[in-house]
Amino acid sequence: MASTTGRPAILVARKVFPEVVDHLRAHFDVDLNDTDDVLSPQQLAQRLQGKVGVLTTGSERVDAALLTANPQLKIVANIAVGYNNFDMAAINAAGVLATNTPDVLTETTADFGFALLMATARRLTESEHFLRAGLWNRWSLDMFAGAEVHGSTLGILGMGRIGQAIARRGAHGFGMKVIYHNRSRLDAALEADCKACYVDKAELLREADHLMLVLPYSPEVHHTVGAAEIAQMKRTATLINIARGGIVDDAALAVALREKRIAAAGLDVFEGEPKVHPDLLTVPNVVLSPHIASATMGTRMAMAMLAADNVIAYLTQGKALTPLNPDVTSA
Ligand code: DGY
Repeated sequence: MASTTGRPAILVARKVFPEVVDHLRAHFDVDLNDTDDVLSPQQLAQRLQGKVGVLTTGSERVDAALLTANPQLKIVANIAVGYNNFDMAAINAAGVLATNTPDVLTETTADFGFALLMATARRLTESEHFLRAGLWNRWSLDMFAGAEVHGSTLGILGMGRIGQAIARRGAHGFGMKVIYHNRSRLDAALEADCKACYVDKAELLREADHLMLVLPYSPEVHHTVGAAEIAQMKRTATLINIARGGIVDDAALAVALREKRIAAAGLDVFEGEPKVHPDLLTVPNVVLSPHIASATMGTRMAMAMLAADNVIAYLTQGKALTPLNPDVTSA
């Protein structure tokens, strides 16, 4: 529905914090999907009628069909730093501004990457299940003996802001040797700050004791880690994915974990999430979490507020704070 008050109308496609809605309502007529249910593409297209802006999460796809059905749309603001739910070619062609939420989640997400690495290397969830199941009636010297973290080699694939924050934790906090691979090499000052050494992908796979995936998803990086890559890793290695589902071939990983071709994996993201490959649910040497790397109240609030501020700034002043396609200027 178009606005009946003369103010611009926007849609918030998923439930957000009341403070964020109040902030938006100071400027716009706000239609809020006040549930945690994802709108279907048809429902989203329908709810967007007459709206000039929308706050999305990674669950709502913005593509040519949606944009064609809503030519009045001016801005799509993702409450996420990743934006693989956006078809950027279609968004650019439609002259719509797209924004994401960089920076505000960097340190929180890096904390979680390290939490998952520690839990995986030190077999935390496996040992907790054992205890809860009442199986702890003896102790042995090698009980749940895991892999060292301090002093080991941390490999990072994808060295953007979050990768760098993880490198700093590893190098400065845990005395790890940090190696990384990225599309482009960091400049010397940043490498020194992160104490990180650039290597090619083969060396990264071969040398890492713990391999952390932090690269953004695009079709080009689909199954960047599959059976062939896992075969190049140390049998004692752990693999941590806090990037996006689809970067790892989950079926191949489940086989590798069952056959102990690597020691363990920690996964926060999955192909086809919220579904999880059934074989991953039955192997013991994997720590699983439901895409919560940026989930602290403070960070989730900051992400939602930044998305709201992007919509407000673009629709009231013509300039968003964190645009993905800043050349679009049609507001
Ligand atoms: C992000 O911001 O991209 C996180 O993965 C949450 O979706």
